[in-house]
Amino acid sequence: MIPTLEWLPNGVNFLDQTKLPLEETYVLATDYNQVATVIRDMIVRGAPAIGVSAAMGVALGVSQSQAADLVALNAEVAVISETLAATRPTAVNLFWAIKRMRNRYNTLAEANTSIPEIKASLIAEAQQMYDEDIAACKAMGAHGAALLPQEGTVLTHCNAGALATCGYGTALGVIRAAVERGHKIDVFADETRPYLQGARLTAWELLHDNIPTTVLCDNMAGSLMRQERIQAVIVGADRIAANGDTANKIGTYSVAVLAKEHGIPFYVAAPLSTIDVATLHGDQIPIEQRAATEVTHSNGKQMTPNGAAIQNPAFDVTPAKYITAIITEHGVLRAPYEQSIREMFEKAAAQPELISA
Ligand code: MRU
Repeated sequence: MIPTLEWLPNGVNFLDQTKLPLEETYVLATDYNQVATVIRDMIVRGAPAIGVSAAMGVALGVSQSQAADLVALNAEVAVISETLAATRPTAVNLFWAIKRMRNRYNTLAEANTSIPEIKASLIAEAQQMYDEDIAACKAMGAHGAALLPQEGTVLTHCNAGALATCGYGTALGVIRAAVERGHKIDVFADETRPYLQGARLTAWELLHDNIPTTVLCDNMAGSLMRQERIQAVIVGADRIAANGDTANKIGTYSVAVLAKEHGIPFYVAAPLSTIDVATLHGDQIPIEQRAATEVTHSNGKQMTPNGAAIQNPAFDVTPAKYITAIITEHGVLRAPYEQSIREMFEKAAAQPELISA
């Protein structure tokens, strides 16, 4: 399995995704501020991986605290949480994970638990979130595999794979599961300008698993769809609103519109931790704007004339009407999404254990 991130006795170890595919190197974050930097600089990226990284950041910060009492520790937990929450705004898994860690902390603190016990419990909670993330990816794979063609080509955008999670992946997890069940699938990976998650990361991890992969420039999908060379599209998500509108890597919306025009199913695979029912529709999702240099420069070389204005939104929103189905760890959601999302949360609360399809 590809080791995206790992809790170690002296910190959290991250596969440096800025260096892939040419170098497989690791960055050890030895305090919570370094975890925040690793998230902000996209050494780790992808919504579920960001969430678990933040949880480990909280655990690391609390475990290193010198606080003598719970009043002092409460104040530190607030600062640690705010620091990690200020890293990237769009992927709701980040805020979900920090909230879960704070809830755990609050329960322990209210019960007057000793500080050493709180530290141990928060480390255990973060490690449990890591395990749950892999289990959720496997369950998404089990629920979604049958939706992919028995034989054909599937397009994906960005990287929603093992590298974007604690292992196995969401969208790529569904592809992996289909291949494991005997489907003959070729993958088209959009290169995903400007950060090249598709070209650098998706191609790297799928080839690692011997899944045939072709890298496309982002402007090629429409023409290939018109030639009937794409049978399905599957992507991940950074935040899904209560009505099913889905924020994902910039360029996803264009692919979804193209898929609809060509009658190709467009699937989103994401855990329930990516669904934000407090966000009613896609226009309420905050979209991260990143540095202009990601667009103006490629591999250190300037590509645009001085003075050109630059846009660099990291994500876009695909309205729910373009989404054929949303694959979660608890089952497959279909429109109307307000209703199916609500019912899925009720079902998951009543029966939290994951069931494979
Ligand atoms: O900017 P990134 O690389 O963090 O963006 C990642 C994506 O958009 C992924 O598609 C999304 O987080 C889902 S990952 C399972």
